[in-house]
Amino acid sequence: MRLILLGPPGAGKGTQAAYVCREYRIPQISTGEMLRAAVAAQTPLGVRAKRVMDAGELVADDIIVGLVKERIRESDCENGFLFDGFPRTLPQAQAVVDAHIDIDHVVEIRVSDEDVVRRISGRRVHEASGRIYHVIFNPPKVAGLDDETGEQLVQREDDREKTVRERLRVYHAQTHPLVAFYEGRSETSSVRFSAVDGSGSVDEISKAIATALNAHDS
Ligand code: AP5
Repeated sequence: MRLILLGPPGAGKGTQAAYVCREYRIPQISTGEMLRAAVAAQTPLGVRAKRVMDAGELVADDIIVGLVKERIRESDCENGFLFDGFPRTLPQAQAVVDAHIDIDHVVEIRVSDEDVVRRISGRRVHEASGRIYHVIFNPPKVAGLDDETGEQLVQREDDREKTVRERLRVYHAQTHPLVAFYEGRSETSSVRFSAVDGSGSVDEISKAIATALNAHDS
């Protein structure tokens, strides 16, 4: 299974990716997580990427495409993978086609801008594992602490409201055109495209995604 989860920042891609990856036993490839790891390790890429990410802009296509191509050569990707946050521009999507990386399904999670702001403002993350919580909608067992390690949860640097608004603007301008790109490709190639309503609860959206994937599998 080679899957792309598409949707605006805060749509719940990372949250849903965790369920899908467990179900299909495939790795989650989040370009955002890869970049945050580079930032934490203060690699030359991380230092450059931090400025771009903190401003809510996108990291250059060639860097991202290079990172992803290298990642999917690893052995855990033999049975597939889930792309979370990639591709994010038309050139990135075209690079996937040009590299003959055949995608089975693209699932778009549709969420309004107001929901995005509500979700992102309450998001807390466990930095070491990438586990995602929300103070109201998906709270940890003990406020402020990771369920598995008991370590402190943090707020992402780019989750300030001004940056979120810029990320949304960038999403509409550069990433949303991928919906038409994949709808078009679903008519001319084997890739399947589904859109799910992302306004419900985490469980409701998980079920909608499972239904979409199973409908296409059967
Ligand atoms: P990235 O980390 O990919 O961020 P993003 O796409 O903006 O997505 P998010 O991680 O913000 O949200 P999500 O959809 O995963 O939502 P989540 O599950 O956390 O990218 C960060 C930056 O890196 C980019 O801005 C860019 O600079 C750079 N970058 C990354 N990839 C790139 C690329 N390919 N090209 C160029 N640059 C790139 O959920 C959000 C919150 O809502 C959580 O608190 C969660 O608990 C809660 N929640 C989830 N589902 C629900 C629900 N159904 N109801 C209520 N709350 C919910």
